[in-house]
Amino acid sequence: MSVARCDALVFFGATGDLAYKKIFPALHAMARRGHLDVPVVGVARTGWTLERLRARARESIERHGGGVDEAVFARFVSRLRFVGGDYGDDATYAGLRKALGDTARPLHYLAIPPSLFATVVEGLARSGCAHGARVVLEKPFGRDLPSAQALNATLHRVFDESAIFRIDHYLGKEPVQNLLLFRFANTFLEPIWNRHYVESVQITMAERFGVEGRGQFYEEAGAIRDVIQNHMLQVVGFLAMEPPATTYHEAIRDEQVKVFRMIEPLKAEDLVRGQFRGYRQEAGVAPDSTVETFAAVRLHIDSWRWDGVPFFIRAGKCLATTTTEVLVTLRRPPLSKLCPNETNYVRFRLSPDVTIAIGARVKRPGEQMTTDPTELRVVHQPDGEEMDAYERLLGDAMAGDATLFARQDSVEAAWAIVQPILGGVTPIYIYEPGSWGPAEAAPLAAEVGGWHSPDGAPEGT
Ligand code: BG6
Repeated sequence: MSVARCDALVFFGATGDLAYKKIFPALHAMARRGHLDVPVVGVARTGWTLERLRARARESIERHGGGVDEAVFARFVSRLRFVGGDYGDDATYAGLRKALGDTARPLHYLAIPPSLFATVVEGLARSGCAHGARVVLEKPFGRDLPSAQALNATLHRVFDESAIFRIDHYLGKEPVQNLLLFRFANTFLEPIWNRHYVESVQITMAERFGVEGRGQFYEEAGAIRDVIQNHMLQVVGFLAMEPPATTYHEAIRDEQVKVFRMIEPLKAEDLVRGQFRGYRQEAGVAPDSTVETFAAVRLHIDSWRWDGVPFFIRAGKCLATTTTEVLVTLRRPPLSKLCPNETNYVRFRLSPDVTIAIGARVKRPGEQMTTDPTELRVVHQPDGEEMDAYERLLGDAMAGDATLFARQDSVEAAWAIVQPILGGVTPIYIYEPGSWGPAEAAPLAAEVGGWHSPDGAPEGT
């Protein structure tokens, strides 16, 4: 793998939504830290100008980047170039080649719909712009296993796997990386992190908001494709993997893919799908849509460490709150009179605040030899100085560090897990906005006492 730093950053889809919400703020943040010292080229289809792109960048950073720092912004836009043209037209790539000047190792970020990936990759190859380059892609990486394999074949016609950086922005999040580090860096945890001590694992990704104008996209995706196949499985991977052999640069990704391969492909009985009331009235949504905005699944990891420990995932839009939380419940100790109801647990809140908590029991003051539940908790409120996931990942891709990117084999292994439950294989249950999803999801987790409401979250309606 080449580890030379990229000497230019190109982003296709410069006038699009992703650039507006994530890429400009990330570039501004990189410039602020002095991490952006290369030409930046925005490419877009429409007849924009550099002036208009600069104005768009300013607006984006004001709205999504915590405000413009004038000196930083001036440095950033002085590096910004614009190339306009059709993605199928060779003239566009000739213009790009010219804008890249004598740079030799560009990073091409394809912030465009997946249907255009092949066209752009081939255009880059024909024009020589792919030479010495890396490419960054956004999910979705296909919409099922065969289409993901076809996409990978298309990419590999032009780029070596070591030059392909697939963004799953969950991997760029500090609290997600912490799951891995916390496990292996703490001696008190690792010996109990297995089927002998862990009873179950629950991951909840709740969003209070709906599809926010992305009805058309959501109709094509649904919750399973949108967040379970990628973000949620990455979290499972970090929770369940074996210790990586740290001296080898692919060690973490190797262990991640091993977990995915050991997860049994999901069956219809492992899944409950829901749709919030009102989804069908969203723009771009079919009036009789059966696409899920909520999915609950039960996973089984067929490994020495995890056999028999159920992993539950619940993710949805228009739920009671916005939070992502992991709850690892430990087995009940003997002498159950001392601990009547609750057992020990480890709780990781991944957003909006970051919490690590240990559920323990302490003696109740008084004569009785009994205990009360308590929680030992560390809470961290992000203060805006942390690197946002996109800033982190763009920096890593520029530096050629692929650790926090999805590798071809893991993307395909993750699709293999959800493949049997794609395509509406179970009924869709309507749930009320502000609830915890359809009541029909309850039996799925009944064996472990039901779904856990994230700490402090309302019970829902
Ligand atoms: C995206 C999904 O990948 O992740 C969205 O397409 C979801 O539907 C988002 O809302 C959640 O990411 P974050 O970082 O806001 O928790």
